[in-house]
Formats: sequence, C-alpha cells, structure tokens
Amino acid sequence: MKKLLSVITLSFVLLTTFAQTTITLHADSVTQTINKNIYGHFAEHLGRSIYGGFYVGDTSKIPNTNGVRNDVVAALRKLKVPVLRWPGGCFADTYHWKDGIGAKNQRPTMVNKWWGGVTEDNSFGTHEFLNMCKLMGTEPYLAGNIGSGAVQELADWVQYVNFDGVSPMSNLRRKNGQDTPWHVKYWGVGNEAWGCGGNMTPDYYAGEYRKYSTFMTDYNNDMMKIASGANSSDYNWTETLMKNIPVNMVGGLALHHYSVLTWGPNKGSATNFNEDEYFRIMQQAWFMDTLVARHSAIMDKYDPQKKVALVVDEWGGWYNVEPGTNPGFLYQQNTMRDAMIAGVTLDIFNNHSDRVRMACLAQAINVLQSVILTDGPKMILTPTYHVMEMYNVHQDAKLLPVAVQTNNYTYNGKTLPAVSCSASKDSLGLTHISLVNIDSKNAQTITINVDGAKYSSLKGRILSSAKLQDYNSFDKPDNITPQAFNGATLKGNTLSVKMPPFSVAVLELK
Ligand code: AHR
Repeated sequence: MKKLLSVITLSFVLLTTFAQTTITLHADSVTQTINKNIYGHFAEHLGRSIYGGFYVGDTSKIPNTNGVRNDVVAALRKLKVPVLRWPGGCFADTYHWKDGIGAKNQRPTMVNKWWGGVTEDNSFGTHEFLNMCKLMGTEPYLAGNIGSGAVQELADWVQYVNFDGVSPMSNLRRKNGQDTPWHVKYWGVGNEAWGCGGNMTPDYYAGEYRKYSTFMTDYNNDMMKIASGANSSDYNWTETLMKNIPVNMVGGLALHHYSVLTWGPNKGSATNFNEDEYFRIMQQAWFMDTLVARHSAIMDKYDPQKKVALVVDEWGGWYNVEPGTNPGFLYQQNTMRDAMIAGVTLDIFNNHSDRVRMACLAQAINVLQSVILTDGPKMILTPTYHVMEMYNVHQDAKLLPVAVQTNNYTYNGKTLPAVSCSASKDSLGLTHISLVNIDSKNAQTITINVDGAKYSSLKGRILSSAKLQDYNSFDKPDNITPQAFNGATLKGNTLSVKMPPFSVAVLELK
C-alpha cells in the first residue's frame, strides 16, 4: 500500500512537472524576416470607420489636418501602422473612384448597398485617403473594383495614382491639385470574389484576375497585385487560383478568416459572454494556425520558392453590434477576449512569416475588432490596440524559432493550447519574446530555455485585467493599459515566467 502511494505521488509530481509549459528559444538560428506588413490594418466605407472615425472634414471643431482627426493620426503613428487597406471590403466592388475626386460639392453620391444603405457623399476619396496615409507614415493598399467596375476603370485608377508622365489620368490628377504621383505599391484585384465581390467560382475569378491585372500597369516596377483569396477553409479556392494564375502574374493571395460563433443573426455579445462563447472564439482564433499551414502547403506545390505571399487581409473577432446601434455599421466593443485573439493571431503570423507577409486586422476604427473607438470628439484605445502596440517590436525583425510544449486550456472536456509564443531579434540586437496565456482561470508557469545566446538584462510589459469581459470605455479609457511586467526572471540560460490568466506579455532581452 505504502509502495502504491509513493508511485501515485511520484506520478503526480511527474504529471505536475509535465503540465508546465516549456519553450526552447533557438536564439542563434535566425531565419526569415517578419514582414512589418503583417501588422497592417483595414479601413472600409462602413459605418463610422471613415466618417467620424478617420475623417471629420476640415470644418469640424474636432482638431484635424485636412479633415483627418489629429488624435487618430497620433495614435496610429504610435502603433506604426505599416499598411492600410481601403476602400473595402464589400464596398470596394461597388466603388467608382472617379466619383471621389475633384471639387467636393460636385462629387456624386451613391448608396452604400452593403452597409446600412446609407448615402455616401464621396467627400473622402482617393486624394483624401492617400494624403492621410502620408500623414500617418503608412503604405496604402488599394482594393480595386472588379465586381461592378470595368477593366478600363481600374486601369485608369492605376494611371491616375501612379503615372508620372503625361497621360489623360495623370493630367486629371494634376488638375485636381496633385502634381506628383503617390506611387502606390499594393493593389487588390477585387475582394471576396466568391461572395459580395461577384459570387464567382474560383475558375471564373482566376480568368477575371488574369484579365484585370494585365491592364494594371506597373509604372514603378514594384507593384504587388493581390488576388482575392479563400474564405477561411476553402482550400479548393487556393488550389484553383494557384493552378490557373502564373506565379509571375501575382504578388499575393488573400485569405479572410473571422473568429465568429455563427454567421447567423445572433453572433453573441461583444462584452457579455460566457466561458463557452469564449472557448469557441478561441478555437476560431487558433484555427488560423491550421488555415495558414494548409493554404501555405497548397501554395508550396505551385510556388516552392514562396514568391507569392499569403495576405490575410481580413481577420479578427465578429460579434453582435452594440445595443441600439445600426446593425449595418458593425460597431462592437473590444474586451480582453479580443486581446487574446490578437496575441494568438500575431504569434501565428510571425511563426509563419515565410509565407504570411501581409495581414490586415478588420477593422481599424469603429468597426468589428477595432484598435480605436470614437464618440464625437472622444477617442479611446482598445485592448487590441495595446496588443498591437506591444507586438510592433517584431516588425521587420528576424524571426527566432521557438519550440513550445504547452499546457492545455481545458473547457468542458475540450482542449486548446494555453500558451502561444513568438520571438524575434531586431536590428539593434534586442530579442523580443511575446507570450499569450488564453486560459480563462489558470496562471501559467512557463520555462524558457535559451539556446545559443546569453542575455544579461530582461524587462517586459503585460496586458491583463480582472475579468475577461473588461474593456476600455469612454468613461474609463485607461481601464486596461500595458503595465511593467515583474513576473519574469532570468537565471543563466533559463527564463521563468508566470503569466496570469488571459494575459499578453512581451519580454525584451539583451
Ligand atoms: O469587414 C467587413 C466585411 O467582411 C468586409 O467588407 C468583407 O470583405 C467581409 O465579408
């Protein structure tokens, strides 16, 4: 009996030991660069994203530069937004760019058929967007209309925006006050062609892509054309496009995946959710890892040299709109649950940065999983903003591989990895390790064994809160902000980290 008890005790000790998370950081095997464009954003003519969010017009009392909110520009500059996608989304395939240039009082209106049926006055158009990107220090990513727009219309837009010489479109640009071209590198050829972009089959879209992209002239020899990609796990879409579009005709293939409970009308509240809803959303967030791996494997067959980027240009959490707001405006609050989605997703992108070289969170302001929310003159930063700001140390840094043996987050007999991690070394020689503990109840004790480097100093920041449902409100804008992290210690080549439940930390080592 005594012997049996000691066996049980020993097994318990072993089990407890194994239940801890262990990470090996291969600090000397520098691999690919984490493209900063993984940290991109998305701004659609949807609800209060553009009007009230980015743009208030130059007669507004809200401090602005040529109509663009100064508070928003400052916050997004701090975030180091590398790339911003515009004007949609579904809106892109209804957008006629020529309606958004020239004297504002002469611009025609249109009905925003996808988003609330509101009247769009086109006061924010090509000049306003591209000059705003300059103000923010961001590269623009224009999504072209191939759903309701002709080939000539898209070819003209490219010429208007990028051509320096004498031509009908560059002359028109000059007449409208812009002498030099903006030199836009990133161009989407339609959006969600399988759905709101025209309900096309992948074969049909591949043909359309080839046709439209042929007439999108690369005036500066650096244009990256991005094909409308798969809806989440539609692997056949990726396979068909890769088979039918020559690698030298395409710079990127898009992928859209939202963490959503259901595509039915009740997607659950953004703030008032239970553990079951939380777990299911985290399953969706972690599913990005499978998606990226499987779409990449298909791309590898046709493009083993990885010339074509996987561009996840829409991702994030999608819930019910806030009570009392326009259902077509997709305005939702943002809690610690969203911080978990952001951290896990960015770690996945970093770790797959050989193929994932651009991504755009949907969306930047007042729509879905936003980094900024506005209410008239007020502006707040969401927990997602803080995660993206903490993680921006990885932008253009060298990926350091991590081998993670993680404890599980268990709910109702189902499991998910509790801990996600990615690491990089920047141009100054600093190593950054990002960590997420998604477990709603349990702290995680994480041991990180460093292989191939010696560090003498350690500091870090953490984002955590008392409740998963916590958020920043206009009354309490600083309810959740990053704090100095004291839960990590360095002894020789071993780091010991204690992560509270549902928290995100970024460590800096040198
Ligand atoms: O981000 C909101 C919408 O979601 C986009 O317009 C569309 O592309 C996607 O379905």
